[in-house]
Amino acid sequence: MTQSRNYDTLFSGVIGQEYEMLKLICPLMTEMSRLVGDAVCDYSGMQDKLNVAELGGGTGITTLALLNARDNLHITSIDNEPTMQNQAKHNLKAWHDDGRLTFNGQDALSALQAMPPASVDIVASAYTLHNFLDSYRQDVIRECHRVLKPGGQFINGDRYAFDDVSQHTRLIQEEVAGYFKVLTGINRLDLLEHWIVHLLCDESENHVMRESVAIRQLHEVGFSDISVSDRMAVNALVKAVKPIITN
Ligand SMILES: C[S@@+](CC[C@H](N)C(=O)[O-])C[C@H]1O[C@@H](n2cnc3c(N)ncnc32)[C@H](O)[C@@H]1O
Repeated sequence: MTQSRNYDTLFSGVIGQEYEMLKLICPLMTEMSRLVGDAVCDYSGMQDKLNVAELGGGTGITTLALLNARDNLHITSIDNEPTMQNQAKHNLKAWHDDGRLTFNGQDALSALQAMPPASVDIVASAYTLHNFLDSYRQDVIRECHRVLKPGGQFINGDRYAFDDVSQHTRLIQEEVAGYFKVLTGINRLDLLEHWIVHLLCDESENHVMRESVAIRQLHEVGFSDISVSDRMAVNALVKAVKPIITN
């Protein structure tokens, strides 16, 4: 409890209103960033310094969770939307100036393609991959595997759609009802429109990230020890390891 209060205080202080608003509209999103941070904290690699590539840093909520997870990491935070990344640059200036954080404004696939093979310990992300077109996402997953060192980990907290379409639809209906309740309550119809329009894109056939398909994609490019945990409605934490090949 105390830890969660400290966590919230840290985030409200650094990310400000953005964090408070997200907590109100979609508390599971802020919780998922915390879980991604916890997974990075649990990573068992013994390196002095861990090289982390973060896909879709946004305003810095997940980035801060990663920075908070452990001291011995350097993060390359990738986001191709300048209005989002500029907020992260402002919010996380202290960590950038301290040399723990670098920003990359390319799209995720181009940024990964520019990285040497086996150069990254962890690829971490929250709520970014579900935005991708499915074919682009497949290419990104392949690149994640290529850039990871053997033993490196892929950690993604995101919207993973249920394979049972009826169950998934019921949860989306509940989600929409929740947006109406919260955002009409604070008279933010502008945000309501934004969230509903975005949700329609997330749920479209060529974007939706169905759990079994996502797991299969990870298997196909060579990941092992794939796990799905911390399911909260349509959200889940997915982890996978690039195997160490021994002859
Ligand atoms: C929903 S936000 C998530 C931000 C943060 N991880 C969080 O959980 O609060 C998704 C972010 O992914 C970025 N994004 C979307 N498509 C991208 C792409 N192809 N390459 C890099 N970033 C992308 C968006 O600009 C946005 O900032």
